[in-house]
Amino acid sequence: MKSLQELMSLAGRTAVITGGAGRIGEAFCEVLAELGASICIFDVEAGAGNERADAVADRFRVRASAFVTDVAREESVQEAVSSAVAQFGGVDILINGAAYPKLELPEEGRELEVQSLARWNANLDVVLTGTFLMTRACAPHLRRRGRGSVINIASIYGLLGPDMRLYDGTDMDNPAYYAAGKGGIVQFTRYCATTLAPEVRVNCIAPGGVWRHQPESFHERYKRRTPLQRMASEEDLKGAAAYLASDSSAYITGQVLAIDGGWSAW
Ligand SMILES: NC(=O)c1ccc[n+]([C@@H]2O[C@H](COP(=O)([O-])OP(=O)(O)OC[C@H]3O[C@@H](n4cnc5c(N)ncnc54)[C@H](O)[C@@H]3O)[C@@H](O)[C@H]2O)c1
Repeated sequence: MKSLQELMSLAGRTAVITGGAGRIGEAFCEVLAELGASICIFDVEAGAGNERADAVADRFRVRASAFVTDVAREESVQEAVSSAVAQFGGVDILINGAAYPKLELPEEGRELEVQSLARWNANLDVVLTGTFLMTRACAPHLRRRGRGSVINIASIYGLLGPDMRLYDGTDMDNPAYYAAGKGGIVQFTRYCATTLAPEVRVNCIAPGGVWRHQPESFHERYKRRTPLQRMASEEDLKGAAAYLASDSSAYITGQVLAIDGGWSAW
C-alpha cells in the first residue's frame, strides 16, 4: 500500500490554475508547487502572473510559467492551452478559479431590479463560460494522462441564497450573476464528473467569504453567522486543493466540498 506521502506527491505533474495571479490563486499555486507540480498560471494580468510564477519557482524549486489568458475568449484559451502543453508536455490538474473581471461599467444598486445585463453577461462569461472553455480545452490532455483532476471553484453562494441583512449599512453587494455562475459551476462539476470518467476526476470547492478587511459591521455579522466564528483565509483552501488534486482522493469525483467554517451546516 502507498504511503500518504506517496499519494499526496504531485512530482512529474503539471497544474494549470486560472486566476492564478489572484489571492486565492496564490494559495493554489503554492500548495501544488510544494507537492512537486509544475505550475502554469492562466490569468489576464500579465505582470502579476509573471511575478507569481517567478516567486513560486524560486520558493519551491519547480518549473512555473504564466500564460496571459482571457478565459472568456475561445481563441485565447486554445492558444494558452496549446502553449502550456508545448512547454510542459501535458496537463494533469486544472483549477478553474478565474473571476471578478475588471469592468468599466457604472456602479449599480443591490436590488435585483437594478442589476444590469452588461454586468451579468461579463461575469458569467468569465465564471461559467470560462470554466466550460478551459475544461473543454484541457479535457483531451487530462484524459491522455489517465489520472487528470479538475477542481472548480464555486462559493457558498452557489449553494445557498445570500442573507442580504449582512450587508446593511455597507456598500457591499452580492449580485445575482454570482449566485447563478457559482451554482452553474456546481452542476457543471457533476456533468463533467460523469462524462469525463474514468480518466478524469472533477470536483468542486465552495469557499466561504475570505477576510479582506470588510466593514466591521459586516465582519461581525458574518462571524456570528459562522459556527467557527471567523471568515476564511486563503490558507484555509490549501488542504482541499492538495487533497483533490492528488491521488489521495483517487476514488472521489463529482463532489462539492464547502470550506466555510460551518456556514452551510445550519
Ligand atoms: N474572496 C472570496 O471571499 C471568495 C469566496 C468564495 C469563492 N471565491 C472564489 O475564489 C476564486 C478566487 O477569488 P479571489 O478572492 O482570489 O479573487 P481575485 O480577484 O484575487 O482573483 C481572481 C483572479 O482572476 C483573474 N481573472 C479575472 N478575469 C479573468 C479572465 N477573463 N481570464 C483569466 N483570468 C481572469 C484576475 O486577474 C485575478 O487574478 C473566484 O472564483 C472567487 O469567486 C472567493
